[in-house]
Amino acid sequence: MVHLCDRECHRMSNLEKRLFLTGASGLLGRALFKKFTENGWEVMGVAFSRASPPLVKLDLKDSAEVQKAFADFSPSLVIHSAAMRYPDQVEKNAEEAVRMNVKTTEQIADIADKVGVPMLYISTDYVFDGKNPPYKPDDPTNPTNLYGKTKLEGEIKTLKTNEENMVLRIPVLYGPVEKLEESAVTTLLEPLMDVSKPCNMSNYERRYPAHTQDIAEICLLLAEKKCKGPTFNGVFQWSGKEALTKYEMVLRMASVFGLPHEHVKPINGPGSGGATRPYDTQLDSTSLVEVLGMTPPHTPFNEGIKACIQTWV
Ligand SMILES: NC(=O)c1ccc[n+]([C@@H]2O[C@H](COP(=O)([O-])OP(=O)(O)OC[C@H]3O[C@@H](n4cnc5c(N)ncnc54)[C@H](OP(=O)(O)O)[C@@H]3O)[C@@H](O)[C@H]2O)c1
Repeated sequence: MVHLCDRECHRMSNLEKRLFLTGASGLLGRALFKKFTENGWEVMGVAFSRASPPLVKLDLKDSAEVQKAFADFSPSLVIHSAAMRYPDQVEKNAEEAVRMNVKTTEQIADIADKVGVPMLYISTDYVFDGKNPPYKPDDPTNPTNLYGKTKLEGEIKTLKTNEENMVLRIPVLYGPVEKLEESAVTTLLEPLMDVSKPCNMSNYERRYPAHTQDIAEICLLLAEKKCKGPTFNGVFQWSGKEALTKYEMVLRMASVFGLPHEHVKPINGPGSGGATRPYDTQLDSTSLVEVLGMTPPHTPFNEGIKACIQTWV
């Protein structure tokens, strides 16, 4: 739902485009850092194990350090993209995941709120159970795994802390990767390329993959719109336009590069083991399109995936 309010957007103005970006070394964070810096924003991109200049090393769990970084940088907007986001790892490290995805989110939202800075929290389609798509932002949530639960808790903390805050729910991502396993989409190239190993591939759960550059563009559009006011807040959603199972993604990659795929066999029905995945979490993006006053760009899957993985083929 889009809430319009009269309040001016705090200290944000066209002259003060200062972004505090968490998760800047991550799959999405790298695209966000690039997009905002290319568009005239001063960005303090923070990372942890992969922090190297121009990114700043900061353990987000250390709230005193985060507070200090805020005071030093004086941002006009926060995008909180850092998270523990591999569902199977989250199941195995529940305490750490709650700490990172819930507690740390709440601390960052609090720190931002104390200095009157709004926050855009990156969330996931996994807040839904996948039984009744497409989902509107206000539809009942019901995550099927701990990752989805912690991200939903993060949403709630974000929205409760400051009425100016926003949540952007997104589907599975692909984009330029440092290693193929970094994205649940690009990782599918490995079994496809290993023709010596017959393998089974899920042809069941439907996904709507989005390119990280498209999500970065949406975040920029939201941020720039927020600068100008009247302000808006609440939950927004974006979905890729093509519904694909993992098996169908493999077939697309095979067709784009002319690779043999007969050793990959489709499997119907839910996978076993690890975190339970929702069946179809298609997100309705109407309210995002309304607030932006335009339909954001969508990279066709074949085109996007070709550019991202061609160096690996
Ligand atoms: N990837 C997807 O398919 C997908 C789908 C839907 C939603 N999302 C959401 O999108 C957001 C971005 O995901 P992503 O794929 O870019 O994640 P990612 O590639 O796993 O990156 C996670 C980021 O969080 C940082 N981080 C982790 N612990 C930290 C700590 N203690 N202090 C500081 N930084 C820390 C990491 O820094 P270092 O690596 O430097 O340690 C990294 O920059 C997440 O909120 C995720 O839930 C992702």
